[in-house]
Amino acid sequence: MHIVFAASECVPYANTGGLADVVGALPPALVKLGPQVTVYLPLYAQVRKHLPSELIRVIRSLTIPFDSYNRFAAIVDGGKRAGVQYYFVDCPELFDRPELYGPKGGEYPDNAERFALFCRAIIEATKQLGVPSIFHVHDWQAALIPVYLRTLYYYDPLFQSTSCVLTIHNAGYQGWFPPSTTQRLLFPWDLFTMDKLEHFDTFNFLKGGLVYSDILTTVSRKYAIEIQTPEFGNNLENVLTRRSADLRGILNGVDYSEWNPATDKNLIANFTPSDLTGKDACRNDLLKAFGLKPVANSTPVLGIVSRLATQKGFDLVAQIAAALDDRDLAIVVLGSGEGGYERFFRNWAAARPDRVAVHIGYSDKIAHLIEAGADIFLMPSRYEPCGLNQIYSLKYGTVPVVRATGGLDDTIEEWNPEKLTGTGFKFEGYLASSFLAAVDRALTAYAKPAAWHRLMLNGMAKEYSWTIAAKEYVAVYEEAASRRV
Ligand code: ADP
Ligand code: GLC
Repeated sequence: MHIVFAASECVPYANTGGLADVVGALPPALVKLGPQVTVYLPLYAQVRKHLPSELIRVIRSLTIPFDSYNRFAAIVDGGKRAGVQYYFVDCPELFDRPELYGPKGGEYPDNAERFALFCRAIIEATKQLGVPSIFHVHDWQAALIPVYLRTLYYYDPLFQSTSCVLTIHNAGYQGWFPPSTTQRLLFPWDLFTMDKLEHFDTFNFLKGGLVYSDILTTVSRKYAIEIQTPEFGNNLENVLTRRSADLRGILNGVDYSEWNPATDKNLIANFTPSDLTGKDACRNDLLKAFGLKPVANSTPVLGIVSRLATQKGFDLVAQIAAALDDRDLAIVVLGSGEGGYERFFRNWAAARPDRVAVHIGYSDKIAHLIEAGADIFLMPSRYEPCGLNQIYSLKYGTVPVVRATGGLDDTIEEWNPEKLTGTGFKFEGYLASSFLAAVDRALTAYAKPAAWHRLMLNGMAKEYSWTIAAKEYVAVYEEAASRRV
């Protein structure tokens, strides 16, 4: 079975969030189970440092038509890593830019054209480089592949037995564009209807993918249920409910070769469940890295690593900041994103320089320092399709406090101080008081070192490896393939 992945992010080439981690780790896990996997990505400016200076163009020019002009894309060979073949869609005027999607907090105005070209170039490229059994497309940026295949490419004999699987990593981003996009991308106007591409008078990439893919997946079981409701569906709940029988929730794995305290090269000291002494050194090193003075062992260090976006629930953090100031704790924050949240964290750190520190930016190294050195990890997300940092936290003995939504609910079990079971602390309603109560339960537990030690070990014993998820994807591919024979 040959699977073609189409995605807008993949570690180590280009990343802004968890999508990149997934597209980086799932293909090698699949290859180990047997399928052949090829990954297509846009050739952004930041991809170049991973490629030889002389690009190897396996296809020099593909003609991609738009309403009144053609664009020309090349396909660059990125070689094989861990058994996975990488190709890059090269169209410098669209992709050779400083950011992936737009200047800070914004969108490039031609994103519809950029990602439509990406999708169509992949279809055309596979005609020369290998037509897959399955196109596995990720999020709105790749969602036009199934739309093209089942409309403009309907009669192409090469794709008659190719199926499409679409994974929703985040239903909050859908690729909404003006109705005129229909014509711009050369789709006939009769596709711009409520049951196909039209969505509240916009042209909606993700909706198109949901309508035309054979099977839909998302990244946790809980989120698969949630997105069929108005609270989480972002107006796609009706489309998703209609396709409920074809929607599966497959929890992401994590890459334990990257995120393992026993082997992590970013740390001043390594540690394991049987010898946690290194974690103290990591804690001191973390405080130092953030310019905070050492704190007593009885004072927990709380950590945050995140995109600073509305999704992540930082308005709840802002609402409980004053209450946290009254408690005996330190807090370190790594993140970047929306200006309002960046300002809030900067101001908080300026007001409490002894106990609160923030690093605005993106740093893989500092993310590892926080996962290892913090005692408690905060993820009060408004919604969270899967979430990776709470899973990394478990492995590092850093106890998560999370909202019971999406993958956070699927991966974290509430601590039971009587039975000594559970891995973290959860709250249900999106309320500051509920969040604070969960933090307080964590602080109470932290004050009892023996029980806390047990709680850390419970989390460290959890395994969310890609092998399990990859097997579930193979089953989905087989089911999708069986529909097109
Ligand atoms: P999302 O994809 O919604 O941002 P996830 O929890 O799935 O959330 O994945 C986030 C990933 O991005 C994690 O690997 C996390 O460590 C990383 N990350 C997020 N923000 C930063 C940052 N400022 N610096 C370094 N890594 C970050
Ligand atoms: C999205 C989600 C996140 C998920 C990631 C990878 O960015 O916000 O919850 O873990 O995709 O699937």
